[in-house]
Amino acid sequence: MKLKFGNLELKNNVLMAPLCGVTDLPFRRLAVEQGAGLVHTEMVSCAALVRDSHKTVRIMDLAEDEHPVGIQLFGCNPEEMAEAARMVEAHGADVIGINFGCPVPKVVKHNGGSALLKEPATIGKIVAAVVKASSKPVIPKIRTGWDAQSVNAEEVGKTIEDAGAHGLMIHGRTRAQKFSGYADWDVIAGVKAKLSIPVIGNGDLMKPEDSIRMMEKTGVDGVLLARGAMGNPWLISRTIGLLENGETPAEPDFDSRLATLQRHFSLMFEYKGTHGLAEMRKHAMWYLKGLPGSAEVRNRLNQSLDFNEIIGLLQDYRERLRLGLVVSAPEVSGVEPEMAAV
Ligand SMILES: Cc1cc2nc3c(=O)[nH]c(=O)nc-3n(C[C@H](O)[C@H](O)[C@H](O)COP(=O)(O)O)c2cc1C
Repeated sequence: MKLKFGNLELKNNVLMAPLCGVTDLPFRRLAVEQGAGLVHTEMVSCAALVRDSHKTVRIMDLAEDEHPVGIQLFGCNPEEMAEAARMVEAHGADVIGINFGCPVPKVVKHNGGSALLKEPATIGKIVAAVVKASSKPVIPKIRTGWDAQSVNAEEVGKTIEDAGAHGLMIHGRTRAQKFSGYADWDVIAGVKAKLSIPVIGNGDLMKPEDSIRMMEKTGVDGVLLARGAMGNPWLISRTIGLLENGETPAEPDFDSRLATLQRHFSLMFEYKGTHGLAEMRKHAMWYLKGLPGSAEVRNRLNQSLDFNEIIGLLQDYRERLRLGLVVSAPEVSGVEPEMAAV
């Protein structure tokens, strides 16, 4: 069944999560090409937006061909959040996200993100204010609770539904877990069973088969991919392929991985200049992980901010791989959870 949030019907139920420092315009272009049913910008500070910070507005740069796209807000003041929601809607968001899950101290300290899980009543007020201010679907994202002793996702989920939200995204970890351990899919199943709005499950979806398992185990209406797609945007199309056809499409070969990495570098350079090349270093490490003999090219990429040199390094590595001049045992592909523990 197609996923529907209010009047917005998605073409599939495989969604790309908001990832701070990752899901910028170039990354989202790749995610859209891979067929994501919905993509997200990086989260946006409501307080900064209301002050019209230039950097914040830039995070919200949207391409014409990337709709539907969600812009996720974080903040703790219902009136300010309502004002910010009006702004992101005017800016072109198709979905208004609200972050009730971010564990990062600088967000939590100001009572944003996951700190609000300790105050379900405030969550209710924020969601109601944002729903009232916007004509777009509002989809908050939560964690299972603050810590293992206070898992309250069912209560928070119900509060969010009663406040008029059109869907809920849930990451199956507590705030205390940050990104460690495993996501608790049982809690996700409990939330899904309690709510009538669509529930999107998130946490540890590293392979296409993980999404199938999550859907079967929890009954969620859709899946939200995150770290598994870093340096691996094909996770999106391969997951869609498995869900739609019952068979997992093959992993891309080394050459197509590198061709995409090269393109990602080009998109970043075009959009952010040299600064984008510095930002690409972490992406490059994710793409190159598991490729035979990639240690040398990884080292050299980490030392260059010259676009032509970088493209030359990648082309040379591709050529050596093609000719079988690089020999070493492949590592396991994909991003390991601990690699991205922010
Ligand atoms: C680098 C990074 C940045 C993230 N930024 C956001 C964000 O801006 N908003 C948000 O709701 N979650 C954010 N998250 C959390 C992810 O959306 C997701 O909930 C989490 O990674 C669990 O899914 P996974 O186990 O499949 O990675 C971030 C996670 C990482 C690793």
